[in-house]
Amino acid sequence: QIHISPDAEALGDALAQRIVAAVQANPTAVIGLATGSSPVAAYRAWGRIATSLGLDQNRVRGFALDEYIGLEAGHPESYHSVIQRDVVEVVGLDPHLVHVPNGNGEPGEAEAYDRAIREAGGIDVQILGIGRNGHLGFNEPGTAFDSRTHVVDLTAETIADNARFFASSAEVPTTAITQGLGTIFEARELVVIATGSAKAAAVAAALEGPCTEELPASLLQRHPNVHWFIDEDAASLLS
Ligand code: F6R
Repeated sequence: QIHISPDAEALGDALAQRIVAAVQANPTAVIGLATGSSPVAAYRAWGRIATSLGLDQNRVRGFALDEYIGLEAGHPESYHSVIQRDVVEVVGLDPHLVHVPNGNGEPGEAEAYDRAIREAGGIDVQILGIGRNGHLGFNEPGTAFDSRTHVVDLTAETIADNARFFASSAEVPTTAITQGLGTIFEARELVVIATGSAKAAAVAAALEGPCTEELPASLLQRHPNVHWFIDEDAASLLS
């Protein structure tokens, strides 16, 4: 399903409603959490709606999509910090139930993360943003559709895109650990948010182009339960 709106706030609200519905249906729901700019409004809306409903979220569990390798967990731009600041605190989750892959590059971490997701019963709703190059998580073009959580080299484009969060692009880590495309695909529901004209080509290719590993988000064409939330700029190249 594709939801298009001129208003990014309204998209965030609509996405948040799906998460809240999942938590209402199952108070121990497992939510997959993206970082980046795209879902920020949705996290705010989720927190607002949950508060207004008096929703008990004490048992909601979360798994972040990815983490940089080589940043201290306490670095303000590590995804440990971002998830704590922009998700756990904003939404009102128990930090002990929200997991972020360990970015220390230790062997076995990727397998352990996949195992933890499996042991939690899998992800009920996975929130996703999309990169300008069509990446999902940090799965860059060319990543196998059946990949599991793994360590990746970031592309120059992704490093340039993420430089806005750092003092300079030289400070952006060059490697990361990410849920694999196969891991992401196993979520029972996927909600994708994309705003702005910079995402238009990737959105059009993901929805209307060939399903190819050269465009990771095109994998979503094969998933039975995907909801896209896109503003008119990001939708501008759809036919
Ligand atoms: C974030 C992530 C990335 C972003 C994507 C879009 O955890 O894995 O795939 O979702 O790069 O980033 P923004 O939303 O900042 O445009």
